[in-house]
This record gives sequence, structure tokens and C-alpha cells, in this order.
Amino acid sequence: CGIFGFVTEHKESATLVVEGLRRLEYRGYDSWGIAALGDQSPLRLVRQTGKIGRTTAKDLEELVDPADVAIGHTRWATHGQATVANAHPHRSQHGRIVVVHNGIIENHRDLKARLEAEGYTFQTETDTEVIAHLLEWELGRTKTFHDALTRTLTTLRGTFALALVDVEHPDRVYAARLGSPLVIGVGDGTQLISSDANTLAPYTKRIIFLDDGEWAEVTPQGATTYDFDMAATEKIAEVVDLELAASDLGDYPHYMLKEIYDQPQAVRNALGGRLLPSEATVRLAGLTELGGFHPSRIKILACGTSWHAGLVGKTYFEELARIPTEVEYASEFRYRNAVIEPDTLVIAMSQSGETADTLAGLRESKRRGATPLGLVNVVGSTIARECGRGIYLRAGVEFGVAATKSFTNQLVTLLMLSIHFGRQRGMSIRQGLELLNALEELPTLMERTLELDSKIHAISEEFADADNFLYIGRALEYPIALEGALKLKEVSYIHAEGLPAAELKHGPIALITPEMPIVVTATQSFIREKVASNVQEIRARGGRIIVIVSEENHEFDRLADHVIAIPTADDLISPILATVPTQFLAYHLAVLRGCDVDQPRNLAKSVTVE
Ligand code: G6P
Repeated sequence: CGIFGFVTEHKESATLVVEGLRRLEYRGYDSWGIAALGDQSPLRLVRQTGKIGRTTAKDLEELVDPADVAIGHTRWATHGQATVANAHPHRSQHGRIVVVHNGIIENHRDLKARLEAEGYTFQTETDTEVIAHLLEWELGRTKTFHDALTRTLTTLRGTFALALVDVEHPDRVYAARLGSPLVIGVGDGTQLISSDANTLAPYTKRIIFLDDGEWAEVTPQGATTYDFDMAATEKIAEVVDLELAASDLGDYPHYMLKEIYDQPQAVRNALGGRLLPSEATVRLAGLTELGGFHPSRIKILACGTSWHAGLVGKTYFEELARIPTEVEYASEFRYRNAVIEPDTLVIAMSQSGETADTLAGLRESKRRGATPLGLVNVVGSTIARECGRGIYLRAGVEFGVAATKSFTNQLVTLLMLSIHFGRQRGMSIRQGLELLNALEELPTLMERTLELDSKIHAISEEFADADNFLYIGRALEYPIALEGALKLKEVSYIHAEGLPAAELKHGPIALITPEMPIVVTATQSFIREKVASNVQEIRARGGRIIVIVSEENHEFDRLADHVIAIPTADDLISPILATVPTQFLAYHLAVLRGCDVDQPRNLAKSVTVE
């Protein structure tokens, strides 16, 4: 979920919050709401289901008049469906407290029972509503607002970023953070609150990053920060180079398509200034921080698409640098008693740098003594900051909820990193140079791969009614199959599964009928014949086969219903290229089925709850 708000002495229209929330939609978009008030204007509370990006001037009419304080929220449902009643802000029973919340209150059931016993009735299915009632109840028993607030904050368990307003004092807003990000943008007579510092770029560069266990009282003149024991923390604003996402779609109908086409340039950006042919290696500034540290193990923590990229990274690190590597879902790692040794390098990989599970995994690994390294796209994001060192992916802002260019840049960055470690551990100059050459060629080969767009569109038309898809590949192309299947699920809602090609015969082959399309990725020359045998097995059972293969290879011409031929490249690089046709396939199938490709149902670009 995303939080945005302001408190001002200049009287602002709450449409400022609308703009902020539109920039935060990547954090959730199933419903939204805004509360605005001032000493001259009573509380206005507007809440709606659907996307704030799709609202009309009429929907926002009520918010236009100036306010002294306003808070808003764009939601990704956790507790309770995406209904108007469950949309934030939530209000306390007697109306004094208005609150927006990102995170999960884990003890909300206990608190609800306690408050019900005190006569409170609940209007929503959310966990957030307890915060409003609890604070109001505490206000009745304590002397000061500060006391009541800290008592409330220390009673809540779970994670939260909160912005709240006391209706009796509409000249200030309170912000609190435990586990979910929240920043204050410091301005002249106007202070802003946001889940993401970058959304404040049009207004200020001076940012107070609240820490976990910190809250702030924010007035038009500035913020005073405290810890949950009410000791002042005296936070000062940092001047930050913020990046406002340029949301120019150009001539593209969707961000996903634009971002697929952005890939050659994104890869060029990732490589820029980082290849060092004179030493047959790469120069990654973020690694200087590591000094003489040589990892004997690597653990990659990630979720979703980033986890798939991690699987490719494992092969790169083991193949090129001989460093044993494990890839874990951050959410699983966190609750295992995982073995971390001082020479374990933990790579936290995340496009957004905000994924709650990855952040929690990173923190747990640090507690256990790991050396962290961030591979993150969004500059200055929480994971990047908490790693303290890392390599930015340089994919540019990714708007499409389904990751495309950030994934291919993750692969490119992982390959560079494995060249770096490889050259420290026995990789020859010859192999180093071959890989640098291959990387340098990649953007041009990607441009040629993009020419397959219309061919894949035509193939998609034949499969638009499919209910299921299988994706298979071996070695580096197994993760590509997983990612292809995920992309299809995310944007077209077609059920899909990615499998190691050889595993098909151990069970999933039972699914194969003439109705089952199978996407085979078979560009790596060293394993192609083995994949061809797996394809024979599918063909013998009537499956409909689409093969992605290098253009010089004709082995599949007679075996497959459709052959998608991509430029020939090194076996370590061709899987990156092979990703592009799977992106096109997911995109075109989704468009043909009338799906909302850029903001698919139920998803968020950045999931900031555990
Ligand atoms: C969400 C997105 C996925 C993404 C995952 C990890 O679930 O919908 O597309 O892969 O989070 O995101 P991250 O920003 O950490 O790479």
C-alpha cells in the first residue's frame, strides 16, 4: 500500500494527495481514499474502489477545496476485500482519529476483542481499524496525545507505516514507522509524508527517513521525531537526489510493451563504464566497499521474478567463479535456521528495493553476520540503503507491474558480478574477454530479437483461448521457463507452469494433450540434443509445441508447431535473449484476452507486507 499526505500553512487542495497517490500506485491499486480537513473546513473523506489513476475530475470534486492537512492511501488488500468500507482512511468510533496504514497488525484480533469489550463496534474487515479505535480509547485514559500515541504504537504488533490526524487539531499530522517505509519531505511551510521519497521529487529534496520504531509530529514548520519510548530522536533532513519516474509512454499502448522495447538500451546502461577489457574483467564501483572480502559462499535472497533471476545467478557464480551459491525465497529463508558464515555474501535482489519479505530476509542475514550486497533497481530504496553497498541495475523506472527489463538487467548484472569473482579465482583472460565481448554484443542482438514481435503476435492469436501452458527448459533455461510461466500468469491469467524439461516425464507429462501448448526454450548448444529428446516425448503425446531456438539451428523445424529463431549467442548469454520472446508471448496473449497488462488484477509492483 502507499501513503501520501501533507500539512501546510498555505492551504493546499487535497488533489496534491491525489497526485502523490498516483505515483504510489505501484504499491497497490485495488482501492484508494483521502481525508482532508482544516480549521475552517470540516473533515472530507473520499474513498473508492478501483484505481486512483482512473479517476475523473467528478470523483475528486469534493477534494478540491483547500485544506490544512490531508492524508491518503492506495491499497493492496490484506485483511478484507477491496470494498469501499475497507478502503483507508479509517476513522475511530467517536470520529476523533483518522488513519491510513501500510503493513499488517498481527495482534489485531486480540485488540479487536479488547476494544469490543470496551464498547467499540467495528465497521470494516481491516486490521487497520483497531489502530484508530485503540488510539481514541487511549486518549480517554491518558493526559496527552503523545502518551496515548506511544501507548498505542507499543501495543501494536506486526509491521506498519502510519499517517494519522487528530480531528480536534487539524494543524498537524502524525507519522510512525515499524517495518514499512515512510519519509517526511521537508518544505517551506508545507511538510509532506510519503511511502516513497522519490514521489516527493517535484516538491523537495530534503527528506527525513523515519527509522523503525520512530514516530513524528509534523506541523507546517517541520517535524519533531521520537522513539516509541517518547525520547526525542532529533532527526535532521538529508538532501537527497530524487528520481521522479518519467512516465512517458511514447507511442506504445502499454508500459509493458515499452519496457520490453527498452531492453537493449537498459542493458547498455547496465554495462556502461563497467567493462574493463584491459584487465579482462568488470569494474563495479559498489564492490570497492567489499575491500578484500572473498566470499566462500553466496546466498541470493529474492521474491518473484527476482528469485528467478537469482537461479540464473547461481549457475553463473558456480560455473564462472566456482562459488557455491544458494537461491532462496526471502520469505522462506527468514523462518529457517539457515547457516550463515562470516564469509557468506548475501545478495538481496529486488527491482523495487522495497519488498517486505526480501527486506526482512536481508535483516535476518545481517543479524547472523552475513556480508550483504544489494542488487536493486530503485536508487535509494530501503534495501539499497540497508545493504550499504551494492550494484544498481540501471534498468530505468519500470512501470509495468510485470517485471521485464529489470529481469534482463538482473541477469546482465549477475553475469558481470560472476566475471568479477571469476577473474579473482582462476578465470582465464581469454574467457574473461570472450564474456566481455559477448556482453557488449548483447544489446544489438536484443534489438534483432525485438523484430520477432509481430511473428509472436501471430502465434499468440492461435493460442488466445488456451486455459493452460507449460514452459520447459534445461540448465540456464529452466529459470527462463519459470519466468516465462510467471509472466503469462501475471498478465493473461492463463494458468502456466515452468519445469525443467527432463522432469516432464516424471509426472507432468500426464497433462499433455492436443490442448496443451508447451513453450520450449532450447538455445544453449551444449544441451540442445537432450532438449530435443524431451520435445520428441511431447510430440509423441500430441502437445502443441512452440520452440525458442538459435537461428542457426534447425533441429526443431520438423518437431515443433512454431519455431521462434533468435540470434545465436554464447550459451551463457542466449538465455537472456530467449527471455524476450516469452515476454512478447505473455504480453500479446494478455492483450488479446482483454486483460489490464500494466496493472493486472490482485497484484502490486512492490509488495510491502510480509
Ligand atoms: C511483486 C511483483 C513481482 C516481483 C516481486 C518481487 O510480487 O508483482 O513482479 O517480481 O514483487 O519484487 P522486487 O521488487 O523485490 O523485485
